[in-house]
Amino acid sequence: MFKIGIIGAGEIAQNHESEIAKLDDCKITAVCDIREDAAKAIAEKHGARVFTDYRDLLKTDVDIVYILTPPFLHKEMTIAAAEAGKHIFVEKPLALSYEDCVEIKAAVDKAGVKCQVGYIVGYNPAGDTARRLFKENKIGDLVVIWDKRMHSANILNSSLGTHKDWLTDKNKSGGHLLECMTHEVQWMLSIGGEVESVYANIQSANPNPNITADDNCWAILKFKNGGIGVLGTSWSCPINSMEKGILGTAGVIEISGRKVKMAKNDDEVQEVETVADTNMSKQAHFNKCIRENLKPFNSIDEAVYNIKVIIAMHKSSLNNEVVKL
Ligand SMILES: NC(=O)c1ccc[n+]([C@@H]2O[C@H](COP(=O)([O-])OP(=O)(O)OC[C@H]3O[C@@H](n4cnc5c(N)ncnc54)[C@H](O)[C@@H]3O)[C@@H](O)[C@H]2O)c1
Repeated sequence: MFKIGIIGAGEIAQNHESEIAKLDDCKITAVCDIREDAAKAIAEKHGARVFTDYRDLLKTDVDIVYILTPPFLHKEMTIAAAEAGKHIFVEKPLALSYEDCVEIKAAVDKAGVKCQVGYIVGYNPAGDTARRLFKENKIGDLVVIWDKRMHSANILNSSLGTHKDWLTDKNKSGGHLLECMTHEVQWMLSIGGEVESVYANIQSANPNPNITADDNCWAILKFKNGGIGVLGTSWSCPINSMEKGILGTAGVIEISGRKVKMAKNDDEVQEVETVADTNMSKQAHFNKCIRENLKPFNSIDEAVYNIKVIIAMHKSSLNNEVVKL
């Protein structure tokens, strides 16, 4: 029975808590938050201990730590958890700079603990099915992957003045690319593989001067295999929408909502049944990886590469140039 400690008892912790509660091979025994009431609300459901300093939680006998705090705290907390010998589930983004990610990875590798980062690749029936069809060579070689994810400015505006204020502060959240687009980058990299170069344009469309986080990015990735990725995400679009697709030399796969459609050249469009790669929750998968000594989906290596690509996008936008990786 794995003993689990949760650090950061905010919004995403509610989701992790309810998924962990469904599993019979682990138990939440410690919860930490600087907002003691938030920690208590989760801890009371599980008879867990409450902490307001994460370093005290790390001194307990928990086997796995869930780091669910804002991004600017991930580096310090993940390194401390690794040094304490705990397996680590850390929410995305791993950290705010490539150098910080490399430092975290060194600490995790040195400690020999498992680490999984909170992306949804492996748990997303539509996205995983599209990738699987592509990897099974159903539509030939990669021509282009596209991914558009649009959300409204309410995400930022409603965070101002609340405990989620960190989201609006570029130095704490990393802004739109590190907080939001990082998910889409993860899906795209899981299909396109290594990136040769990026060109990006990042905008701040929010008129509120108290919001320093940028809120729009459009980018073109050139993969080493010759394919390209076109990526656009927004936090200033009043209509929420998500569209994804993969065009190959012999057909196309389109994701619309939870549905996946495929058409090979000259064939009729067919709707495809969707199944996630793991067919289990992130939390169940992480337990299995620890027990069976497997590499988790969204491993630390992939998360470090994800941030490398995003930092290259920042550089590209800043200098208005194509950046080679
Ligand atoms: N995978 C996903 O789909 C997804 C979705 C939402 C959020 N997230 C990620 O989860 C992380 C947290 O996001 P959230 O929406 O839950 O934020 P949140 O602000 O709701 O929760 C963060 C919690 O951390 C606590 N905290 C802050 N400083 C702390 C400290 N020093 N010690 C202990 N606790 C501290 C806060 O009080 C708060 O309760 C972020 O990295 C975010 O990107 C991931």
